Amino acid sequence: MCGIVGYCGPRRVVPVVLEGLRRLEYRGYDSAGIVYLEDGRLIKHRSKGKLANLEAIIDSALAAPAHIGLGHTRWATHGAPTTENAHPHSDCTGDLVVVHNGIIENYHSLREELKDKGHTFSSETDTEVLAHLIEECLSDDLVSAVKEAVARIDGSYAIGVLWAGLPDTLVAVRNQSPLVLGISEDQGTFLASDIPALLPYTNKVVFLDDMELAILTADGYEVHSLISGTVVEKKVQTINWNAGMAEKAGFKHFMLKEIFEQPQAITNTVSGRINPESGMVDLPEVDLSSEEIKNIDRIFLVACGTSWHAALVAKYWIEKIAGIPVEVDIASEFRYRHLLIDDRVLTVSISQSGETADTLAGIRLAKKLGSKIITICNVVGSTMTREADGTIYTHAGPEIGVASTKAFISQLAALFLFTLFLGQKKGTVSAEKSREMGKSLIDIATVIERELPRIQTDIRKLIDSFYDCRDFLFVGRGLSFPIALEGALKLKEISYIHAEGYASGELKHGPIALIDKDMPILALVPQDDVYQKSLSNVEEIKARQGRLILIGTEGDSHLQKLTEDIIYLPRVADEMNPVLYTIPAQLLAYEIASRRGCDVDQPRNLAKSVTVE
Ligand code: AGP
Repeated sequence: MCGIVGYCGPRRVVPVVLEGLRRLEYRGYDSAGIVYLEDGRLIKHRSKGKLANLEAIIDSALAAPAHIGLGHTRWATHGAPTTENAHPHSDCTGDLVVVHNGIIENYHSLREELKDKGHTFSSETDTEVLAHLIEECLSDDLVSAVKEAVARIDGSYAIGVLWAGLPDTLVAVRNQSPLVLGISEDQGTFLASDIPALLPYTNKVVFLDDMELAILTADGYEVHSLISGTVVEKKVQTINWNAGMAEKAGFKHFMLKEIFEQPQAITNTVSGRINPESGMVDLPEVDLSSEEIKNIDRIFLVACGTSWHAALVAKYWIEKIAGIPVEVDIASEFRYRHLLIDDRVLTVSISQSGETADTLAGIRLAKKLGSKIITICNVVGSTMTREADGTIYTHAGPEIGVASTKAFISQLAALFLFTLFLGQKKGTVSAEKSREMGKSLIDIATVIERELPRIQTDIRKLIDSFYDCRDFLFVGRGLSFPIALEGALKLKEISYIHAEGYASGELKHGPIALIDKDMPILALVPQDDVYQKSLSNVEEIKARQGRLILIGTEGDSHLQKLTEDIIYLPRVADEMNPVLYTIPAQLLAYEIASRRGCDVDQPRNLAKSVTVE
């Protein structure tokens, strides 16, 4: 997704904006640009490709005595990733510039209208229409002109505007695309699409809500509601991430660092929410009484991608432990089917970013149909957390790698907490079971911490034989099936190998036709309640010379009769297997992609937060 950075204050603006854009690179982009005001003139630089290309053309500007400006990294939606289409975009005079995230859905008609009024365009983008529209509305009051212009546009947008006629002010507007202000005593005022861009300068932030306009100056800010037209007081939040947390800390890639941060992410997510002795769970952020929980007919779990895999695991847990029927939906499908939802249905969205457009649209629809909304999210103050009735935060810290790892594991931890919470409120979980399952959840972080280095070593031994494969199958049954899907997604999204995840039992219904001596298949076969059935599926694969990698339980010597490529994991409670078995799947994807020289942290075509539908 695109990234916006803005600044006005005592610092030189160019280094501040560039550093901010660097910290938003993980969002995925294909061109970049910067604009600043110097001696009353707007100086704009743009380039195709990575930030390095932009830095190469602006080196003299680093020392520019300029103190107000904007920057943007663009993920192409309308128009190819070219310099001409890179932001910022200007009006006809060149004295007004705009940066924009999102999609202006009615830009075609607006563009024709403006052309008829004599405006000339230099790009194919929807964003440039906005610059000319503001110009058309502008006389001497920029804020009024921006309000008038955005009233004409349909779609999602986060906007930054700078006009040479108002040299000490930035104007920003947020509607369905995140924008956050960075606040400081004496360092000026910052604007960004996401928190990491602000962390080197401040951890005091203000999250804009939809249809809010912010006026930023070196001395502070003011926020207007575009709905009520009034000034609104906003809560200043303190982010407990430091800039270092968003750095690589010596790892080759953010993704590897975040895989190794998973034990801490689990501990941070569960601590303070579960009594280590009794296993009793306390989730004050979930405002549901025992009575309300007993009256829940069904739970919908709604998410995308890796978060959807977490939802699939949670379905098994909630139905088995809390005894509540669960439906799991991919958000982009959920919102288009005929939903039978009312106030006896609880809808839970799962999202790392809290900004995924499809998931947001899903919960808005569920809310409209009468459902209470809980969200499980990793980003404080993100849109989903402000629209839900309650939020269970995963405390994974900033996840910079586009491929989700520690956020996924933290989602599983949060979902298991939620499962225990529901079961304890409903009375389906005895005191003994609470103690047992609470302990297994707390202990899994220690198990992973201990095993991670050894699993990485074991995975690295396999890489020579598998890194240049063209295809890969992942299979699992029961609680391992969602992890097979997750392993396949991890591998395909960072190594570009075509990988598919299947329920083990599904193989004979078609996919088995793919199996021959060249097809690698990773099978998850913990000694759980479906172990025997899983082994039968593995035998079917072996009978067709499939290249087996088995992930199984320490001491299961039978596996050695089936393949030499085995990763053994310690025995843990069956419910915790999905958490533990994710680790080798993540590391296999990482090591193969790294060996193939792929851009592991920013895979091609992908964005960290998909804020467009
Ligand atoms: C995860 O590895 C993927 N990058 C992607 O599937 C992601 O999980 C999905 O886009 C949902 O994002 P969210 O959790 O921020 O809503």
